[in-house]
Parts: sequence; C-alpha cells; structure tokens
Amino acid sequence: MSANNISIHSADGYNFYTITDNGRKTVIGGVPEKLKDRYIAEAKNASAIVLLTSKPEFCAGVGEVVAQNPDIEVYATAAGLRNIKEIINREINEKLIKDKTELDGLRFIITPGLPWVDTVSVIYGDTLFSGELFGDYSENLAVNRDFVVSALDTLEKYDILRIYPAKGDIVSDKDSAFLQYREFTAEEKAEKTRISIIYSSEYGFTKALAEYAKCKLEKDFDVYFTEAKSADSDMVNKSDILIIGTNTINRNAPQSVWDTITRIDLVNKRGMPYFVFGSFGWAGDGIKLVDKTLQAMGMKQISKPVEVLFAPSDKDFEQMNKAIAKVVSTNI
Ligand SMILES: Cc1cc2nc3c(=O)[nH]c(=O)nc-3n(C[C@H](O)[C@H](O)[C@H](O)COP(=O)(O)O)c2cc1C
Repeated sequence: MSANNISIHSADGYNFYTITDNGRKTVIGGVPEKLKDRYIAEAKNASAIVLLTSKPEFCAGVGEVVAQNPDIEVYATAAGLRNIKEIINREINEKLIKDKTELDGLRFIITPGLPWVDTVSVIYGDTLFSGELFGDYSENLAVNRDFVVSALDTLEKYDILRIYPAKGDIVSDKDSAFLQYREFTAEEKAEKTRISIIYSSEYGFTKALAEYAKCKLEKDFDVYFTEAKSADSDMVNKSDILIIGTNTINRNAPQSVWDTITRIDLVNKRGMPYFVFGSFGWAGDGIKLVDKTLQAMGMKQISKPVEVLFAPSDKDFEQMNKAIAKVVSTNI
C-alpha cells in the first residue's frame, strides 16, 4: 500500500486516479463529458470504480464503462448509488460504501455535502482522495460551509501525507491546505444581530416605512439598509433577519425585489426570520407575493405583512411599530 501504486490521470484541470494493488485495478473518481474517452480507456479493464460523487461533472463515461464491463464493481454511498443508476439508466454491480469501512486497503470516510449529499472521501495508505475538497474553493463549497468544516474535522484525524483532489493541483503540504480551508470557512463573528432592510419605492411611500424601520432598529442591530436595485447579496446572506419593503407595480413586486430574493442562499438561510411591508395603490399583490414566496422558501415569518395604502399615516406607522417590536424580540 504505497503512493507508488497510484497513477494520476490529469487533463484540463481535472484528475482521476487508478490504484493497482495485488493485480486489482481500482479507479478513483471521475471526469466531465469532455474528458470521458480517457476515463473509459482506463476504467474499462478495471476491477472497480469508486465514485466520490455522482455529480455529472465527475461521472461522465461511467455508463459506457459499465456497458463494456458489466461486472465492474461500482462503489458509492447509498445516495451515490441511487443517483448513478438514474444518471446512466443502467443496472450496475453496486457496492455500498459505509462510513469508516475498509476494503482492499481503501478506507472510506463519508463526508457529505462537498457539495452533493452523496460525497465520500477515500484514504489509501497516506494519500487522501478528497474529491472537490482541496481542489479549489468553488462557490458550491462556500455555500456548504458547515459540511466543509465537518469534513475537515473528520479528515484531520487521519495520518495523511498528500492529498489528491478531483480538480486542481496535487497537494503535498497537507497542513497548509487544511489551514487554508480553516481560514476559508472561518465564521465572522458579529457582535450584533444583523438585519437587512431592502426596499423598492417609486414615490417614497415604501421608503418612508423602510426608514422608519431603520430608525427603530439601528441602535440595537447591525442594519444593512439599501434600495433593492443596489442590494449586495453577500450582505443579505450574512444577515440574521431579512426585512423587505416593496411597492406594487402592475400586480407584482418590481424585478429588483425578486432579484434580491433569488439570490438568497437557501442552503444556509432557509429558516431565516423575515418580515415584509410596503405601500400599494389598489390590491398590493406585490407585498402578498413576496410574503408568500419567502414563506414557501422555508423562511420564518415574524409578522404578517404591513400593507399601507399610498402614504403611511400615523396609524400605519403604529402597525409598523408593532411588527418591529416582533422583529426585536425574534429569537435567532
Ligand atoms: C405603473 C404603476 C403601476 C401600479 N400598479 C399597481 C398594482 O398593480 N397594484 C397596486 O396595488 N398598486 C399599484 N400601483 C400603485 C403603487 O403601488 C402605489 O402608488 C404605491 O403607493 C407606490 O409606493 P412607492 O411610493 O413606495 O413606490 C401602481 C403604480 C404605478 C406607478
């Protein structure tokens, strides 16, 4: 069991690996469509494939390999086996990977969410096959921060000398790779609860309500206050609470409001408390649509929407005040 048994196959920034041990050839990982010929050539006479994920970017050609070599063992997690069968629409000689099991010198460690739920890491001797982890720090992994942290915690316990990722350069300095990933995933500690107040307003009526909310909240909270058309999605996704003010234009909320909503990171922000308000002229559909959509996205309504006909009156501000009191007492 040594690194000498491992062959590295790299092209176009992608890597897959073959291990030859006791006359048995095992393929670790996979490639995207454009590189599949090389993969098929290597895998068709192998004894086994270990899929670190079934993400199509890393399993092109598996269908052809199985067609040419139906007995080839296909190792993957439960989710990975389920997915690959549906991706290639073929029966396979499936081998279920269970967490922390060992087989022919391969140690399997299930590390889900990197970035698909089916991901697994493999250790052979002192080499870690890490899939997308340690390859680059793609947006996908950034979204799955908690999974990355959990994988780092688990993998750090093993004696690893080098890391062979699915993408990018081979990592020979394992310690600095772990350190770098710890830095990537370090959480910014906020002193105060963060609230985003994002609004859209044509004549200033919704804006007046938004400014009222800002005024009430900014002494106790870290408030990010902006018009929807210039909203920074990173700031919104760093917030603990989201407040959206929307006018209604042609029975809808304006595009800038929807743009803000579509950029919410639902992997991490599902369940975020929110509150919607706005000024309207006749039916206020925009306010209702935004509120229902956020609810359907799994976010937590703090208060029923405050819907204000044209310019806000004292009574309307009183309604806002009540909703803001609920915001203040929301448990994060
Ligand atoms: C082009 C246009 C279309 C509108 N369509 C609707 C509508 O479909 N439903 C509604 O309730 N109000 C509608 N309104 C009224 C506005 O929502 C209302 O004037 C509101 O007070 C605007 O608030 P704001 O000053 O924050 O933009 C429309 C206004 C404009 C200018």
